[in-house]
Amino acid sequence: MCGIIGIASKKLVTSNIIQSLKKLEYRGYDSAGIATIVNGEINEKKCAGRVENLEKMLFKSPSSGNLGIGHVRWATHGIPSHVNAHPHSSDEVSVVHNGIIENSNELKKNLEKKGYKFKSQTDTEVITFLLTDFLKDFDLVEAINKTLKTLNGSFALGILFKKYSNIVVGARRGSPLAVGYGPEENYLGSDSYALKSMTNKITYLEDGEVCLLTNNKIDFYNSKNKKINKEILTLSNDKHTAEKGDYKDFMSKEINEQNITAKACIKEYVDHLRKDINLYNFPINPLDINKIILIGCGTAYHSCVTAKYWFEELTNIPIDIDIASEFRYRKIKLNKKNLYIFVSQSGETADTFAALDLCKKNSVKTCSIVNVVESSIARSSDFVLPIHAGPEIGVASTKAFLGQMLVLYILAIKISEIRKEISKSDYEKKINDLKKLPDLIKNTLNYCQDNVPIIAKDFLKAKGAMFLGRGLSFPIALEGALKLKELSYLHAEGYPAGEMKHGPLALIEEGLPVVILAPKDRYFEKTISNMQEVIARGGKVILLTNEDNKVIRENVRFTLEIPVSNEHLTPFLMTIPLQFLAYHVASLKNCDIDKPRNLAKSVTVE
Ligand code: AGP
Repeated sequence: MCGIIGIASKKLVTSNIIQSLKKLEYRGYDSAGIATIVNGEINEKKCAGRVENLEKMLFKSPSSGNLGIGHVRWATHGIPSHVNAHPHSSDEVSVVHNGIIENSNELKKNLEKKGYKFKSQTDTEVITFLLTDFLKDFDLVEAINKTLKTLNGSFALGILFKKYSNIVVGARRGSPLAVGYGPEENYLGSDSYALKSMTNKITYLEDGEVCLLTNNKIDFYNSKNKKINKEILTLSNDKHTAEKGDYKDFMSKEINEQNITAKACIKEYVDHLRKDINLYNFPINPLDINKIILIGCGTAYHSCVTAKYWFEELTNIPIDIDIASEFRYRKIKLNKKNLYIFVSQSGETADTFAALDLCKKNSVKTCSIVNVVESSIARSSDFVLPIHAGPEIGVASTKAFLGQMLVLYILAIKISEIRKEISKSDYEKKINDLKKLPDLIKNTLNYCQDNVPIIAKDFLKAKGAMFLGRGLSFPIALEGALKLKELSYLHAEGYPAGEMKHGPLALIEEGLPVVILAPKDRYFEKTISNMQEVIARGGKVILLTNEDNKVIRENVRFTLEIPVSNEHLTPFLMTIPLQFLAYHVASLKNCDIDKPRNLAKSVTVE
């Protein structure tokens, strides 16, 4: 992960680098740093902790310069500390890096033999010294390409050179890097989002490419040191805002705007007048699909698990689901008649991208469901279905999860209709029900505001928690557990309720909070029986069910009620109380809501 920024300008760059680093903090936030060229020398400032700390440091000891690079780190090699923070500089070169250098130990030994003295435990410092070394014998582009060829692994780099003090260099392999064109200045950024406030004219470096930025021009080179031309793209005018507004943090904003997310997404795909779903130029005729494989990581994977249930109910197409980090290394027979769907909020997740790349190399049909339409995954897949959720900044995914599920559900309905596996009246009814979803979400949000905070208190002394559900509620149980883990650092497990007796029931003891997801669906009675088994063993049950549901509430500690809806829509509503629960438990524990420890929003390393 890690965030990189680079600016070559006629003006002082420090303040713009800091502002951009703040935007990139979702990629990593354990340390931050900046390097500029001041009076022909490399001037490096860095510290452990947030960009805020770096800003304070620069306030006391300002850094000038018309060109510079900046970095926010998510530690891979070496603990988060001042010494391991980027940039890593020699007298000649300063480097910021996103990615992992797999042969760094071996390279380090060779460089040490040559007399280079390493200060950090990072894999990045080898790049600094390799560049320093190659520069003795080669010109700039040659020295860079020689260095890149020596490296195994993935990287996006921002580099400053004392000798070429008007140039910022960018290079990539594996990790994304955007290049921006501005008025009298040019930029490098880990993603276009970081550059958006400065320019909407960008291009993306491809693997093996290098760019040289000055304040008035950008030159691109390939790995053979040959100059190349690149197409300039204009970024879409994003109507969504990435500001917190009156909310305390991004996560509460993002949870509370899920009715708007649903509305925006439905508006893009559903034509209520014609009672139809728009799906033009789909890469494969749904009638010819042999099998659908849904692939993602973390929360995105949970949306795939949910979609498996919808697709299986609405179509006769066999469905596989896969975690991208597993899919990419398994011996899988890829089939040209299958459709491979990749789900990713950021569109930059390294494992998901690698799984997609594998499919592309085997010429099978790919489709991506992303939030960031300019992302690497979107750009590499045959077909893109955006979720239209607007920027999601909180590391814990909330509205994007809802958007991912929604697009997958809409897709399942449409494929079913094209294959004539659903009746016309059922199809129209489902479309009609979708229209009601934003209001149902709004009601659930309002209900949760008042009713969830009190429940959160019960989790404070707990050793852990369990989330149980069946059918469509099972993936939501997984997601509820993941949200609680990542936000409050409380151990949590999500399980199919029927699986408890096969082992996890042993975990139930007096006072353990157990969230039972029991909407009034076909599994209801069975789930309630499982709930009784938990109660009998002392579990403190929080029952999540539908309004007006006459359930025995004896010995149930809390009951939360979501609105009654079409059974297929319950996952959208069930998710909301669980997001609120994780949020409030984390708040009571004073955890950093938007930036949970050890995590990052965009996971661009394996
Ligand atoms: C969600 O709360 C997590 N932070 C994480 O699991 C995330 O969903 C996962 O890393 C995948 O990210 P992506 O959707 O950007 O690919």
